[in-house]
Amino acid sequence: MKKIVSMIVAVILAISFVGCGSAMAQNTPAPEAKTAETPAPTQANKDSAASDHTVLVVYFSGTGTTRGLAEKIAALTGADLKEIVPAQPYTAEDLNYNDRSTRASVEQNTPDVRPEIANDITLDGYTTVYLGYPIWWGQAPRILSTYVESHDFTGITVIPFCTSGSSDIGRSDDALAEQAGNGNWLQGRRFDANISDDALLAWINETGERSMDKTLSLVIGDTEVCVAWEENASVDTLTEMVKAESLTVQLSMYGGFEQVGSLGTSLPRDDAQTTTQAGDIVLYAGNQIVLFYGSNTWAYTRLGRIMNKSAAELEDLLGNGDVSITMSWK
Ligand SMILES: Cc1cc2nc3c(=O)[nH]c(=O)nc-3n(C[C@H](O)[C@H](O)[C@H](O)COP(=O)(O)O)c2cc1C
Repeated sequence: MKKIVSMIVAVILAISFVGCGSAMAQNTPAPEAKTAETPAPTQANKDSAASDHTVLVVYFSGTGTTRGLAEKIAALTGADLKEIVPAQPYTAEDLNYNDRSTRASVEQNTPDVRPEIANDITLDGYTTVYLGYPIWWGQAPRILSTYVESHDFTGITVIPFCTSGSSDIGRSDDALAEQAGNGNWLQGRRFDANISDDALLAWINETGERSMDKTLSLVIGDTEVCVAWEENASVDTLTEMVKAESLTVQLSMYGGFEQVGSLGTSLPRDDAQTTTQAGDIVLYAGNQIVLFYGSNTWAYTRLGRIMNKSAAELEDLLGNGDVSITMSWK
């Protein structure tokens, strides 16, 4: 029987889960003319290769903890992200593990039950799948069995991961591998909800899969940072530019909270009044990229967020004089 206290802690951690860094909002609008002295970007390091995604993160999450972890893994690897959605959603009462007669507990006590899945998550074209789930009574939720039994993992490396109140992954990964009956299943791993990006990245590198997919990389000065890029037309256009040729942009410090520089071209924009935090990357006036080490409120289009640097580290990186950034596809 699991300790309720540790489960409550896990839930609290899940709710308070944030990316890297935060800062106080200053509500200081930025003037339109702020990039007058920003030099045009230079271009270097041609990188013509481009590839479709071959890495997928598939997960099921009852209360959001595994979702948070899955999102981080997808951001750090550049993988696609898909959620297994139950045809019959789990209510809070269904997930009440204090009452062994509620749905999730009954399912876990009934090995051959296979909860229906509402969506179709194809594995076509993927060579690596990170498979995430919460631990329910020491096992993977039965809906994971539904998923693995109805998909063909032949030729795919499967990397299970899970979250829990305190239990380890146990035999849950082996059981899923047996149910799948095919695929190259690696040893799974259990994570705390508040695992650091660096520790997660170390595990991803251990699996040897991170390099399998190309992603939009950002180097500030000579420090490569991990970015969770937005899915929008601005980032799509930026990615296409960078795929064609790496892009170096000279940034200038502005206002004591940001570095800004001209992209030399306009991207699609969808500006919205935004209060930024340290680590946020936004598009300003359609043609300028802004990296925040503090906060500002203005109309921007979000581009992404630096995941693996604290507010203090961002201040060090961005708050000590002008820097150049290089974006490349690798
Ligand atoms: C029905 C049920 C059974 C659970 N059993 C366990 C368990 O055996 N061991 C454990 O450490 N945590 C257990 N938990 C806690 C979850 O594993 C933990 O909160 C997990 O991080 C939830 O992930 P999610 O938010 O993605 O659903 C259980 C939770 C539920 C709802």
